[in-house]
Amino acid sequence: MSKVTVIGAGNVGATVANVLAHKDLVKEIVLVDIVGDLAKGKALDTWQQSPIDHYSTSIIGTNDYRDTKNSDIVVITAGIPRKPGMSRDDLITTNANIVTSVVKSIMEYSKNPIIIIVSNPLDVMTYAAYKASGLKRNRVFGMAGILDTARYRAFLATELKVSPKDIQALLLGGHGDTMVPLPRYTTVAGIPVTDLVSKQKLDAIVERTKGGGGELVKLMGTSAWYAPGAAAAQMVEAILKDENRVFPVCAKLDGEYGLKDVFVGVPVKLGKNGIEKMIQLKLNNQEQKLLQDSASAVKEVMNVFDKI
Ligand code: NAI
Ligand code: 2OP
Repeated sequence: MSKVTVIGAGNVGATVANVLAHKDLVKEIVLVDIVGDLAKGKALDTWQQSPIDHYSTSIIGTNDYRDTKNSDIVVITAGIPRKPGMSRDDLITTNANIVTSVVKSIMEYSKNPIIIIVSNPLDVMTYAAYKASGLKRNRVFGMAGILDTARYRAFLATELKVSPKDIQALLLGGHGDTMVPLPRYTTVAGIPVTDLVSKQKLDAIVERTKGGGGELVKLMGTSAWYAPGAAAAQMVEAILKDENRVFPVCAKLDGEYGLKDVFVGVPVKLGKNGIEKMIQLKLNNQEQKLLQDSASAVKEVMNVFDKI
């Protein structure tokens, strides 16, 4: 009997709604956008796909927040995407205002939702949503780590000529060039990846992962949506099914990893209360230093947000 609202009916938001409808685990999806009837049109299109692909999830599009009343989960994708030459941080002023106003509108109609942020710059927008919502940290977090590890796993699958299904990986840090893929925690069906790929090739794959978002912006003139949409839908699924899945998500750290009051990607268990537990890895000195550098980069942009 769950209700999920997706804010922003653009490339990512419409994909989240469509992938989620296909999972057939939500009673009702509400897709919201400020642009005319865009959300209505995309919702109707997804509903008309239901007899073909066999799902019962109902989906409506709207620009009226009253329709979002009593949402269990809200996924926020509203904002502008990157264009060639832009960094994620270039989006801050526009998207900070959008995310803050969206969260305030959501909180008028839903008492204690779980909010998943997708809008960029991701870590700082998660901070903005946390501040605007007044919710506890286990209920406001961001999607980036699933996408970034998916890119890393896909590149490894290509290199090793194995199924991406068999590649397990972890990644820490902010959703930007300072993200920290962790080869030490990467396996192919349990075999350490460091036994299978040369250091030189692995380093190149790590670097490609860090620039994975930018690679797609260059190719398409805007940022990606299929993998990002699927990643956000996977988080919704883990919560609704109370799966306790272990994913890297952007969360507020309160002393974990020696970091405080900063939003970065760390592995967590996702279940019915959102973040059920944060998992603390035993990092070596180099990994810890990379995570700290990444957190400092995020903190700088958080400070920019505080001044807006
Ligand atoms: P898009 O431009 O296709 O869609 C954004 C939608 O948000 C538009 O339809 C726009 O009308 C809507 N919007 C703007 N202000 C709004 C408001 N106040 N209320 C409701 N809707 C509003 O952009 P796309 O490609 O869907 O990307 C969305 C965001 O997600 C961008 O900030 C992008 O950088 C980010 N992103 C984040 C990823 C991640 O890993 N966290 C991955 C991919 C994209
Ligand atoms: C991505 O990584 C731009 O954050 C977006 O595709």
